[in-house]
Amino acid sequence: MILSTAAGEIRRISLTGADFTGAMAVTHCLCERKSFGEVLEWARERGIDSQETVQLHLGCGRHCGLCKPFIEYMLATGVTDVPWPCPALPASTLAD
Ligand code: FES
Repeated sequence: MILSTAAGEIRRISLTGADFTGAMAVTHCLCERKSFGEVLEWARERGIDSQETVQLHLGCGRHCGLCKPFIEYMLATGVTDVPWPCPALPASTLAD
């Protein structure tokens, strides 16, 4: 179950009450086998800050698309170990 607190913080809570927030991170586009570190370095060298441009040139996001919000978050923050659930996704899209 995914909860959003009054402060807008997203918490991932199991049915038994265990808090798994921050327990997982997404670090790669699995379809293109590229790490977010590689993608970020490539993007910064070229002054690129949009997921669409990364997708056009590197293919990340072109296949299953699951990495798109994670890449958006990475480009905006510089964080390459993006926590799950992705902070770029509205809590309403994550609710059970
Ligand atoms: S994980 Fe990036 S397109 Fe599938």
